[in-house]
Amino acid sequence: MSGFEGQSAVVTGAATGIGESTARILAQRGAVVTVMDFDAEGAEAVTKSINESGGAAHCAVVDLTDWEATETAVNEAHRRAGRIDVLVHSAGGFPQYVSLLDCPVEAWDGVVNSNLKSMFYLLKAAAPLMVAVNYGRFVTLSSMAARSGVNPNPPHYTAAKAGVLGLTRQAARELGPHGVTVNAVAPANVQTPRGLKIRTPERIAHIEKSSPVGRLSESHEIAEAVIFLCSREAGYITGVTLDVNGGATMV
Ligand SMILES: NC(=O)c1ccc[n+]([C@@H]2O[C@H](COP(=O)([O-])OP(=O)(O)OC[C@H]3O[C@@H](n4cnc5c(N)ncnc54)[C@H](O)[C@@H]3O)[C@@H](O)[C@H]2O)c1
Repeated sequence: MSGFEGQSAVVTGAATGIGESTARILAQRGAVVTVMDFDAEGAEAVTKSINESGGAAHCAVVDLTDWEATETAVNEAHRRAGRIDVLVHSAGGFPQYVSLLDCPVEAWDGVVNSNLKSMFYLLKAAAPLMVAVNYGRFVTLSSMAARSGVNPNPPHYTAAKAGVLGLTRQAARELGPHGVTVNAVAPANVQTPRGLKIRTPERIAHIEKSSPVGRLSESHEIAEAVIFLCSREAGYITGVTLDVNGGATMV
């Protein structure tokens, strides 16, 4: 895979977890990275650390459920670098496991909006800029929750991540003729700080026992799959969902 020298990348959810790993690796491989997140402290720390270790990063503190703020932040990243070659949407997740029967009505909008509406806003803001130069790589994070009913997952999260896959295919269809690919990565069981917080020791033991690979994954293992789809070499791959789950959905 060639590097990302001369490219500009925006990574959402980059204050921590999979987004942080992705931002760090893209910067190591030459991209100028915009670290986008609503966690100001985390985003600033990651930006500083990338810059101090020889990479180039800018910080954008934005709530991606706010259209005007998202559009402004994407335009600012574009203005600074002159283009956006890569956009990785890793912001999202859910705060805790909850069953369908226990899920409060009020919890729906927050989870669906941060995982799904945010993707629509990012596409609305960034896709025209990519289309204008006939090049772009948009990669979004879905989840095994949208691929398999084997494990119990929260209903709002499962629905939002399934929506992400539909929107990925729709955007891939529409943007393909303009040199822009749109793909999804569907991870499972990643040892991010949030991932470790929401899983009980029993659930972790169950994952280790039932996974064909026999362990949880590290953030960088998901990031590497994301980054392949961001590469120039992945130009004939669009509208796909890449499962990165240690074989969990084949069982
Ligand atoms: N960790 C896992 O096991 C796992 C499994 C499957 C899918 N995923 C998905 O991968 C992605 C990354 O997961 P993670 O574990 O690294 O998550 P994380 O919670 O560690 O990081 C998510 C980041 O997104 C940011 N964020 C959330 N809502 C936002 C908003 N509205 N605007 C701006 N920033 C916002 C948070 O501040 C945080 O920094 C998520 O979309 C998640 O659903 C994770």
